[in-house]
Amino acid sequence: MEFDSPITIALAKGRILKDTLPLLAHAGIELRDDPDTSRKLILDTNHQQVKVVLIRATDVPTYVQWGAADLGVAGKDTLVEHGGEGLYEPLDLGIARCRLMVAGKPEASLEGQRLRIATKYVRAAKQHFAAKGQQVEIIKLYGSMELAPLVGLSDLIVDLVESGNTLKANGLVPLEHIMDISSRLVVNKASWKMKHETIVALVETIGEAVTPAS
Ligand code: PRP
Repeated sequence: MEFDSPITIALAKGRILKDTLPLLAHAGIELRDDPDTSRKLILDTNHQQVKVVLIRATDVPTYVQWGAADLGVAGKDTLVEHGGEGLYEPLDLGIARCRLMVAGKPEASLEGQRLRIATKYVRAAKQHFAAKGQQVEIIKLYGSMELAPLVGLSDLIVDLVESGNTLKANGLVPLEHIMDISSRLVVNKASWKMKHETIVALVETIGEAVTPAS
């Protein structure tokens, strides 16, 4: 691919970066710096016009919303919490797949008003219980949600489940499916207009490398 406009791509270290690099490689973009050893936050690529910025996964939509990055890769969970203002979401990359679930102790009840729900995913949890017409109390946590029902902080949790091993190791079970999660390519709305040809070509090329859901 040729890049007529400068393009900045926001990625998060870890699984999203690892799974996104082969998709970028399909578009002919390769990192010049090794993200595992480099402490740099702005990485050069083989295209002078293309840079990759490394940020926290939850910050990706914010950088893209404000145009500090033209594109980014973010989990659907992160996008729901962010709200999606200022972003287009043209492509499901089908990577980092998991499920957002309500979970709890095997004997926990899903019914009842004012259940306490511990979660990092406040907006998704609120929407889910509101859609069921159930009033709940959301307790915001930043991680290790599985602990909350074990120590009486909450009745239930809302968390990501991939293999289910974390729930199992803590004596919890998945109780209700909220949504399937995967990482999405997001694009700044102004960049989409101003750098239209370059961005559309990039989105299409990356799309060719996406593995469809089985
Ligand atoms: C996620 C999630 C669970 C775990 C689920 O945490 O919050 O704790 O993975 O995976 P499993 O079903 O395969 O056990 P992650 O490792 O992403 O870290 P986090 O706590 O920072 O979200």
